[in-house]
Amino acid sequence: MTSRILATRRLPDAGWEILRKGVAVTLLAEKDDELVPRERILAAIPEADVLVSLLTETIDKEILEAGKRLRGVANMAVGFNNIDVPAATALGLPVSNTPGVLTDTTADLAFALLLAVARNLVPSDRYMREGKFKLWGPSLFLGADVSRGGDGRPKTLGIVGFGRIGQAVFRRAQGFDMRVLAFDPPLKALIDKTGGVEYADFATLLAESDFITLHTDLNPSTRHLFDERAFDSMKPNAILVNTSRGPVVDEAALVEALKEGKIAGAGLDVYEDEPRMAPGLAELENVIVLPHIASASRDTRNKMATMCAENAAAHLMGIRAPNCVNPEVYEAEAYRKRAGR
Ligand code: GLV
Repeated sequence: MTSRILATRRLPDAGWEILRKGVAVTLLAEKDDELVPRERILAAIPEADVLVSLLTETIDKEILEAGKRLRGVANMAVGFNNIDVPAATALGLPVSNTPGVLTDTTADLAFALLLAVARNLVPSDRYMREGKFKLWGPSLFLGADVSRGGDGRPKTLGIVGFGRIGQAVFRRAQGFDMRVLAFDPPLKALIDKTGGVEYADFATLLAESDFITLHTDLNPSTRHLFDERAFDSMKPNAILVNTSRGPVVDEAALVEALKEGKIAGAGLDVYEDEPRMAPGLAELENVIVLPHIASASRDTRNKMATMCAENAAAHLMGIRAPNCVNPEVYEAEAYRKRAGR
């Protein structure tokens, strides 16, 4: 029987070519911006040897169970909260992701958002295009300093999640002479031994940061970490940047916090109920909203696609995938049975 890869959506070219070498690939979405209904995945999965998914598809237990021939799932994203990994492991299925390659690209975007919100870049651009700029004025679009600036004080950046991307943001912050706090309980030892960053408990980070940037994964302990209480504890001049996962922030509470001036602004690349935004968010002037593009540089997306295709090929061949998120599966009886070993 020919091997078959089921791709929910098309990968960027570099990965797509690798994927199609010598195997039949079934593509579920005709158009690039087409959301694939769950039923379509469920109907096609019984014929698939490997599933290639994007973060836009929820791959739940029922879908995985229906994949009787399945040997693995390759997700083109570093995050994999869209996949029920414990269920995959129980079924003997390796799941892979694309870590590392998007670290700098994502950190660049987080920093770009931070600067853009602080210095009113989007409203200023709109002002120019609308022909409103008549005369330079000393009070036109006054923003906040990110580096020492006018008051000479280093600004405090709070990083939530000190993994690869959080660390890359920290390195950028050093160039701006910022005081950096980081909150990430499992990585406390690493933070303690890294020069130039102080470990802060969550309450301290909220109370002392001028800017807070989120780089944590989404898990039960980080869902709605930023809720009404958190916003109540932040500084009124604080700016929140989220390039991690939308549900880390209670978006309705964020809208209220921004409206009431509990915090000064936000730069968002991700949303709680993507692609929808919470009511009222789009009307706020002190917010920049982007369509989940943190890793969207041509080179990075091509590299992510290549990694994803290589992971898919490994799943297909029954060898260890280079970026497996549940490597314990390879020792499991369920995996051996599925692989016929
Ligand atoms: C993007 O959000 C990713 O997880 O790769």
